[in-house]
Amino acid sequence: MLQTKTTDISEQIINGEPVKLAFHYNSKEINKFLNSIFVKVLSKNDQDYLQGMVETILREMIINAVKANSKRVFFKIKSLDIHDENDYNTGMEEFKTFLVNENEKLADELKEYGYKVEICMKKDNDGFKIMVRNNSPLLPFENIRIKERIDKARNYNDFGEIYMDIADDSEGEGLGIPLTVLFLKNSGIGDESFNIRTDGRITQSEFVIPNAMHPSEIITEIKTRIALDIDELPTFPENIIHLQQLCRKKEVKIEELASGISTDPALTASILKLANSAGFITSRKINNLKDAIKIIGLKNLNSMLVASAARHILDTRFSFFKEVWAHCNKAALYARLIAYRFNMTAISEMAYLASLLHDLGKIILLSANNDLTSKIETVAVKRQMRRSTVLEEMTMGISHSSIGRIIAEKWNFPPYLVEAIACHHSPINARAEYRDIVSITYLANALCLIEENKFDYFYLEDEIIRRFGLTDRDKFDLFHNELIQKAADTGAN
Ligand SMILES: [Fe+2]
Ligand SMILES: [Fe+2]
Repeated sequence: MLQTKTTDISEQIINGEPVKLAFHYNSKEINKFLNSIFVKVLSKNDQDYLQGMVETILREMIINAVKANSKRVFFKIKSLDIHDENDYNTGMEEFKTFLVNENEKLADELKEYGYKVEICMKKDNDGFKIMVRNNSPLLPFENIRIKERIDKARNYNDFGEIYMDIADDSEGEGLGIPLTVLFLKNSGIGDESFNIRTDGRITQSEFVIPNAMHPSEIITEIKTRIALDIDELPTFPENIIHLQQLCRKKEVKIEELASGISTDPALTASILKLANSAGFITSRKINNLKDAIKIIGLKNLNSMLVASAARHILDTRFSFFKEVWAHCNKAALYARLIAYRFNMTAISEMAYLASLLHDLGKIILLSANNDLTSKIETVAVKRQMRRSTVLEEMTMGISHSSIGRIIAEKWNFPPYLVEAIACHHSPINARAEYRDIVSITYLANALCLIEENKFDYFYLEDEIIRRFGLTDRDKFDLFHNELIQKAADTGAN
């Protein structure tokens, strides 16, 4: 299947031809392949904003279909009768362990027993219809349970309620349907088109994306609170704007800059902290401003002034989230190294600053509701969603990258910086003139997330890794290791 070009398939769909793809077992390659088809089909209809949501729902549907087939295979291997209540209960206990421990064997066994999953896609006057079919019928009680789950899911108002209900479900088994229904409701597609049916031979789940629909705004309590928080943020400090002008002067004296900075103790502390943490130093600790400026350099100082002032405002008004800034520091260091490595030195400092601040919206989100934000991140990682921003949007009505964009605009940051903060999870949406800076910021962030086990090579945007010539997995890993090594050499932690 993967030999076929995604461009050909998306063309067929756009032209109204039905397309069918079949496989035995889901894999990251298949997800990647399908995502690439959706990007093309949805953008043709100006529905790019649905991409993250559609890929998440489809993934949930595929997981369920493969799981239902796997259950049948498992019962056959164990010679258990799935229709017998006692056998069913015994089998299901073992099946859960089997799924966790031995699922690498599943791909072959599903193939051997002839179980498959088909994805059917068709675009007509009603919209873009997506169907997932698997060749094992639902048992009567499974059918009832699923119907009950869908009904219950339609009554959930937000993600908090869903999470409370399935918190004790460590496999997250019950999460798929509620998430799908919530996503459809909140995206404006509506949950009515979603259904699962079985006919004694197959099971099919489906939903339709209407041709004419507009983004719907999700209003939540947390979103309203965040809007107020942002409203109340002060304007960007005058003294920083003045110091930035000093940095740009041809003949500026380090003493002049140091004394300008030293009038602001919080800024002094932040500059020293950043100078000591972002990979400039080798062995000695920098504890005075003049040394810090010498080591940092004027170009870098400019970035640091902006970054430390922004961080200072956020840290004083909201809670301090050490891990967010540590992640940003590392991303910034990687951004600079990536720029050098790909002969983009002219924009290295811009990419550096963008990376230092890329997650500033997360501080606001975590402060508004730490518990919910953390849960959302856990679910996004556990269910291997490509971007936690989609789940944030669908559950809270706003993502950390959108919050970042609003703040960056409020503080009159230059357009490249606004764009990089806004698009650090969706670089293909960035304006062409800032694509390079955004791509570096995206890649630097993605590499850090991979190291934190929150992201995967397979979820990287195709277009971006092609841009850096890193589509080959081995090449990518080599490059990543090279960066890790270089970062370690500069003394970053
Ligand atoms: Fe982010
Ligand atoms: Fe990040």
